[in-house]
Amino acid sequence: MATNSKKILILAGDGIGPEVMTQVKRVLGWFDRRRNTGFETEDELVGGCAYDKHGTPLTDQTMEKALAADAVLLGAVGGPKWDNLDFSVKPERGLLRLRKDMALFANLRPALVFDALAEASSLKTELVKGLDIMIVRELTGGVYFGSPRGIETLPNGERRGINTQVYTTSEIQRVARVAFELARKRSNKLCSVEKANVMESGVLWREEVQKLGDTEYKDVQLSHMYADNCAMQLVRQPKQFDVIVTDNLFGDLLSDCAAMLTGSLGMLPSASLGAADAGGKRKALYEPVHGSAPDIAGQGKANPLACLLSASMMLRYSFDMGEEADLLDKAANNVVARGCRTGDIMAPGCTLVSTSQMGDEILKELDRLG
Ligand code: NAI
Ligand code: MG
Repeated sequence: MATNSKKILILAGDGIGPEVMTQVKRVLGWFDRRRNTGFETEDELVGGCAYDKHGTPLTDQTMEKALAADAVLLGAVGGPKWDNLDFSVKPERGLLRLRKDMALFANLRPALVFDALAEASSLKTELVKGLDIMIVRELTGGVYFGSPRGIETLPNGERRGINTQVYTTSEIQRVARVAFELARKRSNKLCSVEKANVMESGVLWREEVQKLGDTEYKDVQLSHMYADNCAMQLVRQPKQFDVIVTDNLFGDLLSDCAAMLTGSLGMLPSASLGAADAGGKRKALYEPVHGSAPDIAGQGKANPLACLLSASMMLRYSFDMGEEADLLDKAANNVVARGCRTGDIMAPGCTLVSTSQMGDEILKELDRLG
């Protein structure tokens, strides 16, 4: 085994997952050959395909491999074939188990606009051209998990639905640290978002983030914003932000909102990070934001860029290979700028390419650049 070996577990999944992942593997192969990166990839099943073979969307064995890997790359899971399965074995359960057992508490969702695609945004081109923001969403706490929860019937017969927003100081601090570290690697600007004006959990959130800002991260320019204002600012002047850190619920909404500034689901990567071990290494899962796209699966129409950009995040955040990540991002930008487009980002005067042709173009561009 090479000393620089990096173990990557590849879970291509269902629908377009395997199609886009094939292109990612070609690109990882390129880096391995040209940059001696020491990638050791292994493929396993997740989602509907795993259910078909093993009767479960994620076997214990695959889970163990995910825990042992340096990084996990996932395509997508699900599809109409499995829609009527029992909840406990639905494809999505495989993904949920991965996130839970790997304890992935920080979800990184970049909203990045390629220059050549700025015109496809629903906002004015000048508002989004060059947009590059990163939303860090807390993923394992907050109102989706807090107790008490449930639906109860009151003595007067009325029913009441309950969910509880809960955050502890350590939950706030660990996700804030991820965001501060990211800000340091980017433009040193962090905006923390809550509703401290009406929620006690928000008051605690603001205090804890500010404390870190005053002690460990004095060099980072920290600001605070209420979540409703943040939603307005994202569509009014999105380029004012660099890194945003927020809770699970607000992060769910704000990251989807920011994502759509960029135009296409086929272009959106994500990363989910867990706790760092003694050597500073974090459990990490990288996946495109899109699903298995059953409407275009098997037709060579899928855009592989969301998955490729997820792999680029893996290079950057799991392997500290910023230079290689920049190279891959640049190759993707250039290919799109040259007018190579899959159907989802097609525009007049551009050339329609298939999933594998997009992969060909990325590899050619990598050859040219480096
Ligand atoms: P989807 O993201 O799969 O598709 C939504 C629309 O975007 C479709 O028209 C699709 O063709 C298009 N699209 C998505 N990715 C694309 C790409 N890379 N290139 C070109 N076009 C692309 O969401 P949908 O239709 O709601 O869900 C389909 C299945 O995927 C369901 O079974 C759902 O549960 C699952 N899903 C899985 C996710 C995951 O694995 N993380 C996330 C979201 C949905
Ligand atoms: Mg959402």
